[in-house]
Amino acid sequence: MHKGSRSDHHLETRAVHGGEQVDELTGASAPNIVMSSTFVSDDPAGFSIKEFEEDRPYVYTRWGNPTIEMLEKKLMSLEEAEHCIALASGMAATTTLLLGLLKTGDHLVISDVCYPGTAEYVRDTLPKYGIESTPVDSSKVELLADAIQPNTKLVWIETPANPTLRLTDISAAADVAHEHGLPLVVDSTFATPVATRPLTLGADYVVHSLTKYIGGHGDSIGGAILGSRERIEELRNDAMIHLGGIISPFNAWLIARGAATLPARMRMHADSAMRVAKFLEGHPSVLQVNYPGLPNHPQHDLAKRQMDSFSGMLSFQAKDGDATAHRFAKELEVFHFAVSLGHSRSLMYWVPTKEALSTGLSLSSEQTASYRDFAGDGLFRVSVGLEHPDDLCEDLARVLGN
Ligand SMILES: Cc1ncc(COP(=O)(O)O)c(C=O)c1O
Repeated sequence: MHKGSRSDHHLETRAVHGGEQVDELTGASAPNIVMSSTFVSDDPAGFSIKEFEEDRPYVYTRWGNPTIEMLEKKLMSLEEAEHCIALASGMAATTTLLLGLLKTGDHLVISDVCYPGTAEYVRDTLPKYGIESTPVDSSKVELLADAIQPNTKLVWIETPANPTLRLTDISAAADVAHEHGLPLVVDSTFATPVATRPLTLGADYVVHSLTKYIGGHGDSIGGAILGSRERIEELRNDAMIHLGGIISPFNAWLIARGAATLPARMRMHADSAMRVAKFLEGHPSVLQVNYPGLPNHPQHDLAKRQMDSFSGMLSFQAKDGDATAHRFAKELEVFHFAVSLGHSRSLMYWVPTKEALSTGLSLSSEQTASYRDFAGDGLFRVSVGLEHPDDLCEDLARVLGN
């Protein structure tokens, strides 16, 4: 019987075959969806996850399900990870990891630019459990070291960061974290495993919003945490199963179907993003373009070292951003003016700097100034989709004028 992919296969082959098996009963080539919430047992085996061995049979879908496991194995193969848990959303992955690893009295060091949901949760909710944080500009890794306290329990970075596209050197951040005996977590949603595999660069946990590139079609929400067998098994047996934020098998199936084409899609996302970035860079109404693939990105050398693809995300500042945002929202025809990213459809959203700073972490005036260097008064965050890049540039040109 066909056994799926091998670890020495290329990324494209692993994306298609990873985690998949031909169905032994029917010979079906495409994966089944097992929606059952419970599984019939031959034995009165027990009623607690603690009574089961690692290679436990399926018991109850919150503990484990064949379709969810198929997605987890595909992601493990792509990220070169020993183990994975798939969850209901990127935020379910983030909260499962934070609540799984931290307790009252602990502290974490976190990148001062990251997805606002993560920033808000760390700033506003974790203190209710007595967990404090220090936000730092993680692009300067020495600042990560300075922020570590005796009660620090983890270091969290996001690279490229949402929405400024600022990068963090993962290997250097891992060295800092490990010198202090701490695990490094990388939210790698913008990069995807096609661009960067943080575990191979020294990170201890990778977090993804599967809602974005990995699912790729804007029709399902999911998240994942990957790492060593020991670290992930510990999270599975407590935080995942007891907090209960597991993914629906149907969404796991949709996301696995999307993940099969991830390498092919990322090539086109990246090629088209470069075309759109260059078009915007040359437009008189555009003040600045942030795209790691452009030579004028302040960390382009790091991008070339750390990313095998520059991915499909960029952001830009335009003259009179607020008024332009209103025009984009009304007049764009190909782009959807909407949040989210990584879908086949191109998406654009306006992130005013005032709002970004007030909803993000509590930043020093120096950190605020560094955010403004990337963002000015506001950023248009662009997720370049799979439409023809000429149509995308024409759509932007029509609204931006000359
Ligand atoms: C970088 C990053 N991480 C995490 C998330 C949260 O993911 P989800 O919306 O799937 O909960 C997002 C969502 O936009 C994101 O951009």
